[in-house]
Amino acid sequence: MKEYKRLWMILGLIMVGSFILLGYFGKEIYNERPPIPAEFVDESGKTIYTEADILAGQSAWQSIGGMSVGTVWGHGAYQAPDWTADWIHREVLGWLDQQAQREFGKPYDQLSERDQATLHYDAQQAFRKNTYDQATGKVTLSADRVRSIEGVAAYYDKLFGSDPELHKLREAYAMKEDTLPDADKRAKLNAFFFWSAWAASTNRPNLDVTYTNNWPHEPLIGNHPSAENVIWSISSVVTLIFGIGSVIWIWAFFTRHEHDEIVIPERDPLTLVKLTPSQKALWKYLLVVAALFFTQVMLGGFTAHYTVEGQDFYGIPVADWLPYSLTRTWHIQSAIF
Ligand code: HEM
Repeated sequence: MKEYKRLWMILGLIMVGSFILLGYFGKEIYNERPPIPAEFVDESGKTIYTEADILAGQSAWQSIGGMSVGTVWGHGAYQAPDWTADWIHREVLGWLDQQAQREFGKPYDQLSERDQATLHYDAQQAFRKNTYDQATGKVTLSADRVRSIEGVAAYYDKLFGSDPELHKLREAYAMKEDTLPDADKRAKLNAFFFWSAWAASTNRPNLDVTYTNNWPHEPLIGNHPSAENVIWSISSVVTLIFGIGSVIWIWAFFTRHEHDEIVIPERDPLTLVKLTPSQKALWKYLLVVAALFFTQVMLGGFTAHYTVEGQDFYGIPVADWLPYSLTRTWHIQSAIF
């Protein structure tokens, strides 16, 4: 036991250090998380979305499998888009179109690169500016932005419903028809997506990065990785490699290695092993594990198949009974069981 004392102490120190760091950063994440404003209002004070709408939208999102239908802030399934990025892009394009018509009398995509760049600058100013009032808990949105939000919300209402115009797109995203059948819940879902986009495009107070550290990428409003982001990413990789190198170096130069000659056994040691009664009793457990593993692999293949056919399995409309979100969830959960 004595010879292990030093190792136990090192392990203890590493554990304590790791949990202190985990606790500290957990607290930081909690304190620095993006706020959920009490209300988003237009310039006349009319309510667009409330905190309750956003939270109800989050529940609506979870009710359809949440992170198994696309991603939010980059977390989830890769089949459908990242809704945050998609919402920001569509909202900014809607906003740019209104400016292009007003300033140049043409749609945004018909402008010269120079004129487009001018509008990108304006979009960056308009979207990144933080209008969250901590005292009232309200965020004020410009009339152009509200119009653009209404446009995106109408599109999402069709996409998550059963509008035949968007059938092909739903297939490409492996979303079942009428993904969220209740129109009121779809409206709440929009509030949640909008809030995720607002947090990802609005600068933190007194800083030049958004609440989500400029994530997801959106060049139209200057959502690029910040210098800190790049430096910390590189230094974490370098630190990891340095750490691994140090362990190998210390092991090679500061510990004694005595190489015992390997004696070849006369009989295969495995043939000498006698199973204990408790080991024998494990066959039931192993059978369950094997069955779960088999189910998981089958569900994995089934889920992957949605990538090719969208809603069908060799022509059978399986999305009506086992949508992508469900097969993916079971696939992941079977590993946990
Ligand atoms: C033939 C075997 C397998 C196939 C064809 C398969 C296929 C898939 C597919 C299509 C996805 C969804 C990807 C997405 O859009 O997000 C997925 C996700 C996942 N699979 Fe598998 N899988 C297999 C085996 C396994 C095994 C053995 C495990 C674990 C023990 C596993 C764990 C996971 C996990 C954790 C995810 C979620 C990943 C994420 O969200 O980033 N899979 N798999």
